[in-house]
Amino acid sequence: MLLVNPEHFLSLLMSTENTTQTVVVTGASSGIGQGIAIAFGKKGANVIVNYHSDEEGATHTLKQIEQAGGKGLVYQADVSKEEEVISMFDKTITTFGGLDVLINNAGIQKDSDFSHMTLDQWRKVIDTNLTGQFLCAREAIRHFEEKQNESSDKSIGNIIFISSVHDIIPWAGHVNYASSKGGILMLMKSLALEMAPKKIRINGISPGAIATDINDDVWKDEEKKKELLKLIPYKRIGQPEDIAKVAVWLASEESDYITGTTIYVDGGMTLYPGFVDNG
Ligand code: BGC
Repeated sequence: MLLVNPEHFLSLLMSTENTTQTVVVTGASSGIGQGIAIAFGKKGANVIVNYHSDEEGATHTLKQIEQAGGKGLVYQADVSKEEEVISMFDKTITTFGGLDVLINNAGIQKDSDFSHMTLDQWRKVIDTNLTGQFLCAREAIRHFEEKQNESSDKSIGNIIFISSVHDIIPWAGHVNYASSKGGILMLMKSLALEMAPKKIRINGISPGAIATDINDDVWKDEEKKKELLKLIPYKRIGQPEDIAKVAVWLASEESDYITGTTIYVDGGMTLYPGFVDNG
């Protein structure tokens, strides 16, 4: 016989209520960040559309959010700058009264073969991709810790680290980028362990080849695209929406028992298709 604990039944009922989430999305002026921000807009969320330099792109994102029924604001900040990050989170709290979700997405590539890689190329990538995710996560955690409620059985806050398949697939010619993404993996897992007792969920999404500005030199070129497709068993390049749908779910109560996990959204890239017929 199935016994239903009345407390759990009640919390199940409450979990179906449509509560408005407040979400910070970094790097939301284009690509994956833009797709995620719009997807949260469709859920009626309050979305902070962070951007670094593309104000027009960020404004476009906000328009789409508003048309979809959400609210939000655009906010310029370099995620690698401590003061700018702190101000962005202050603005979020004062405008919307709280924070529920951080989508730690802003990321860049500065590619070079190793011997020619400048210290500046190394630092820029680590600063944005890794230090930026640290700084934003820390501000989000500081806020989540303030809203700690011991009676809560469910998550009081969510952070999703947008990483890359290159957190586990080594990438020649991109050592700075792969190092930053490998760092994110351990940042995510260690933080998840530290925060789980506080009911703060920390997870990662690692996209494969998604058609955005960051790799348009590849997917817009027919020959290079053919080569890229050899690395994708599912035989299509991903779209920002493929990532966005997973992000919305991973930040919802539907996935409440998941923490410390990375979801690879990559059309099977991490299955190492080079091993299909040899090895
Ligand atoms: C990179 C893309 C690349 C993809 C698969 C992503 O993290 O930003 O440039 O196409 O990984 O290699």
